Amino acid sequence: MQNNVLILDFGSQYTQLIARRVRELNIYCEIHPYNNLPDNVSDFKAVILSGSPFSVRGDDAPHPDLSEIRGKKPLLAVCYGAQYLAHFSGGEVAPSNTREYGRANLSFVKEKEQFFENITKGSQVWMSHSDTIKKLPTSAIRLASTSDVENAAYRIEGEETYAIQFHPEVYHSTDGKQLLENFLLKIACVQPDWTPNSFVDTTVLELKNKVGDDKVVLGLSGGVDSTVAAVLLHKAINKNLYCIFVNNGLLRKNEFSAVLKQYEGMGLNVKGVDASARFLDALKGESDPEKKRKIIGRVFIEVFDDESQKIENAKWLGQGTIYPDVIESVSVNGGPSATIKSHHNVGGLPDFMKLEVVEPLRMLFKDEVRRVGASMGLDPELLGRHPFPGPGLAIRILGDITAEKVAILQEVDAIFINGLKAEGLYDKVWQAGAILLPVQSVGVMGDERTYENCVALRAVESTDGMTADWVNLPYEFLQRTSNAIINRVKGVNRVVYDISSKPPATIEWE
Ligand code: XMP
Repeated sequence: MQNNVLILDFGSQYTQLIARRVRELNIYCEIHPYNNLPDNVSDFKAVILSGSPFSVRGDDAPHPDLSEIRGKKPLLAVCYGAQYLAHFSGGEVAPSNTREYGRANLSFVKEKEQFFENITKGSQVWMSHSDTIKKLPTSAIRLASTSDVENAAYRIEGEETYAIQFHPEVYHSTDGKQLLENFLLKIACVQPDWTPNSFVDTTVLELKNKVGDDKVVLGLSGGVDSTVAAVLLHKAINKNLYCIFVNNGLLRKNEFSAVLKQYEGMGLNVKGVDASARFLDALKGESDPEKKRKIIGRVFIEVFDDESQKIENAKWLGQGTIYPDVIESVSVNGGPSATIKSHHNVGGLPDFMKLEVVEPLRMLFKDEVRRVGASMGLDPELLGRHPFPGPGLAIRILGDITAEKVAILQEVDAIFINGLKAEGLYDKVWQAGAILLPVQSVGVMGDERTYENCVALRAVESTDGMTADWVNLPYEFLQRTSNAIINRVKGVNRVVYDISSKPPATIEWE
């Protein structure tokens, strides 16, 4: 990988955003924790140091040895990174007296710096720090200040080393992307050659080399990640990829047959396994949300294990793991360390867990997975599908699960989702679904008194599912949907709309 940028993570909440911005410039980059430098540091064309919740003056602060990097390759130090450079190069870092959080405006000390090309005086930047650089190292040249921060940007003379106190990766730094472009393209001369197509070409080649003639087993979920991972593997090893798509009986209406057909149409070697009865049987009488989740997880492993054992000499387990999961697992803030490999050769685990893991998407963000999928010609409807939880409708049926309740909820959900699609609202919503409540209420239909179920509709806007707002769907749409549900779904006589945000509510009801 030639045009590769290394981001050293000091634990900032914004580190992933730096990577996003770099990738948006079509430049490949990797995040590595500051205390675990990759072996091939010399292969990277440029390095970015992230911010950090630590103070450089603290005993437990990250103080990595940068001798392999500093002065040897173009280096951009952000926030903590800038303070770290100053602190260890003869400068002085101290607690700041004034508020240094939020918006600020740049004024340039030196005009015509390549670093600030196409950025005008007064450009808004985002500050978020409690220490400040009081004195620059003697080898440093101040480039910019703000009203509260004298040393907002500097460079080191005789090196391609630049340092900024503000966060270019944050949306509020209006010229942040331009600044990263100036540094990476103009100063570091990194080529912007990382595109979905180039990713597909390199990944397919890598997969061919890695897997060779071995067999790979992969569990398809109907979601974007596992599908794109499967298509990449299929391109690389064709029929040696064995996909398993399990029907847990808790999918949306007709989803199992429709998605299975779609997979077959894509030429994937896929086996559909209808294990609905096994799941429903295991769930019988269970109302506790966490126990329901655990049962579904356990039965899935049993079914997947049974099926993967039927594939003789399978060596690899393909997975749709994406970059945020990987970064989480190597976090410098004490997140769980990367344990994927510890599955190997451990007695007592299901057989498929003893396989080697291959994860073609482990360096991609979610939107990049979609772009890669699109570049391989995947159906836009599949790529735009709302997230759907692994335990499926089980966590949208409050209380115990029966086949009858699943059938009712599938009908309600289909009317809601198809309505969103028909009225052009589906793509404006991040996730939507219906919930069957353990509530019966009195209604009247014709001259008859009814005593039937209540369903809730939920539609949210979000970017990552961590926070979410309920969507202000048009009243007329809600009215039509409610009418359709009550008229067409036997057993439902009342529809409510969930207007809770996350937090304090969650997206799913269980
Ligand atoms: P919550 O309900 O936690 O949901 O606000 C956030 C996002 O995660 C999905 N979700 C799950 N996905 N297994 C999954 O695969 C689960 O057990 C699970 N619980 C919640 C949820 O649909 C939403 O997108």
